[in-house]
Amino acid sequence: MCGIVGYAGPRDTVEVLLEGLGRLEYRGYDSAGVAVVGAEGVSSRKRGGKLGVLRSSLDDAPLPESGIGIGHTRWATHGGPTDENAHPHLGDDGRLALIHNGIIENFAELRAELAEAGETFTSDTDTEAAALLLGRLHREHGDLRSAMLALVGRLEGQFTLLAVHLDEPDVVVGACHNSPLLVGFGEGEQFLASDVSAFVRYTPTARALGNDEIAVITPTGVEVIGFDGEPIPGETFEVTWDAAAAEKGGWSSFMAKEVSEDPEAVANTLRGRIVDGLPSLGELGALDDETLRGIDRVQIVACGTAAYSAMVGEYAIETWARIPVEVDLAHEYRYRDPIVDERTLVISISQSGETMDTKMAVQHAIEQGARTLSICNTQGSTIARASEAVLYTHAGPEVAVASTKAFLAQVVGLLLTGLHIARVRGTMTDEAIREVTEALEALPDQLRTLLAEQGEIRELAQWMSDTRSVLFLGRHVGYPVALEGALKLKELSYIHAEGFAAGELKHGPIALIEPGQVVFVVVPSPRHQQGLHAKVVSNIQEIRARGARVIAVAEAGDAAVMPYANQVLRIPLTLPLLEPVLSVVPLHVFALELATAKGLDVDQPRNLAKSVTVE
Ligand code: F6R
Repeated sequence: MCGIVGYAGPRDTVEVLLEGLGRLEYRGYDSAGVAVVGAEGVSSRKRGGKLGVLRSSLDDAPLPESGIGIGHTRWATHGGPTDENAHPHLGDDGRLALIHNGIIENFAELRAELAEAGETFTSDTDTEAAALLLGRLHREHGDLRSAMLALVGRLEGQFTLLAVHLDEPDVVVGACHNSPLLVGFGEGEQFLASDVSAFVRYTPTARALGNDEIAVITPTGVEVIGFDGEPIPGETFEVTWDAAAAEKGGWSSFMAKEVSEDPEAVANTLRGRIVDGLPSLGELGALDDETLRGIDRVQIVACGTAAYSAMVGEYAIETWARIPVEVDLAHEYRYRDPIVDERTLVISISQSGETMDTKMAVQHAIEQGARTLSICNTQGSTIARASEAVLYTHAGPEVAVASTKAFLAQVVGLLLTGLHIARVRGTMTDEAIREVTEALEALPDQLRTLLAEQGEIRELAQWMSDTRSVLFLGRHVGYPVALEGALKLKELSYIHAEGFAAGELKHGPIALIEPGQVVFVVVPSPRHQQGLHAKVVSNIQEIRARGARVIAVAEAGDAAVMPYANQVLRIPLTLPLLEPVLSVVPLHVFALELATAKGLDVDQPRNLAKSVTVE
């Protein structure tokens, strides 16, 4: 977790760092700090609390001018979110400052060794041990680049580190091991950051560092070397969205803005990928048609909301491509010792492309010889680079911690993948595929209509702001939607919310139903071939009979739910397998509005960070 940014150049360094940290706050927001190197030496300021606390302190007492600096926004791992534990940490008697994202697993040993050598600690963090050790290594080696090379050989765990030293007032050195670091290339200025959003307003040209690499930036140049000290050539890429895409605009929250961007997220994920009514995924490169014909099993790995999109993908890929699909929470995957070989396609889903659990699952799959595809939203991200092929969702930057538009784009990415595999394997006729692609292409407009009709759910959320528990039921592809509705509500409004498969109700959860209990039911289309609609309507009757207040999410024209539900939220007609793209919208809006009505910070809910970059 944690966001880091480094700068070398002529701009107001503190302003560049604070601006970058503002973009990275989604990675952690319980404390923040900056350090610069100027005529007065290394100056730093760090504060527990959100970035605004640090900003006010710097407004009241600015740091001196400087041509280099580093900044950090924290999600606490070792030690609470206090001023002392915030980064940067100092070494070499205050001549060096260091920030860190990740976990240093051998920090206790290092701490003991450093204490023995006479160093004193002022924080509870693992990072301070690295700062003090780097200081000692700098004295030994004489420059920051060599000291960093020596330091990385002493650390275990996963980390991105950035450091500056008084003796080298135009150098920022960064190192990464199992944790992201990107370089931004400007004219007479260079950047280092966890994510391109921190510097995209200054330059769109970026390079993602590979694992075990060190970058040394000065205003005029960038050097990248491996942990063995050898130079590493690498490619740059151009970020395809501009800084405005990561700004709130006139919206009350990033989440509200991002929900409003659902139609574009879906349209952009589809763009160029349907040609003459058929999926066209030439970008899959190494996963060519012959390879896909040879696959006999698909495993999808992801966490949280992305895992719910994976569940939708499971239904679609099995139905269309007639190939067995398993979905695993990425953190469980390798521990269950899954059966994986070179005929297994492992698809990882990740908005950030940096989720450590998902990354480790991909690594496990690669070690077992699987073929790998990632569906990611963030260009140049670690998971995207680790996989053989990547399908970018192009949903645009998602800043709010709670994932919304990315979920829709992930589902659409999986639907396209399923259709592509079905076409290659010949399990669907072109005509049947065209029926689906036509429905997919209709989704952006349907989403626009749907979003314009959310007044009712807003009123409902406001009316329910004191509610303490909400249940969500769904079946088939409505089941992951129910899980997603519950996750979004609990993470944003801190109330009890649970999602169940409606068929599971009588096996236990029905005991939770008491008079007044609010239950959202995601109702399958009456056109669903297996007659699920009638079964879910029966479920509604069963819970109504026990006093539940039922809010149904049902397709337009479904009259059968009317007599039983207390309220019906309508979604436009689409194919049953595509329904999650529409039925999730009222649930996202409900969570957003209820949390807003409770006066909570919807963009930065407590205890969370957007990218979970530790296991
Ligand atoms: C919930 C949410 C999380 C993420 C999960 C995976 O609203 O956003 O559950 O979906 O942490 O993140 P990514 O997709 O970045 O791997």
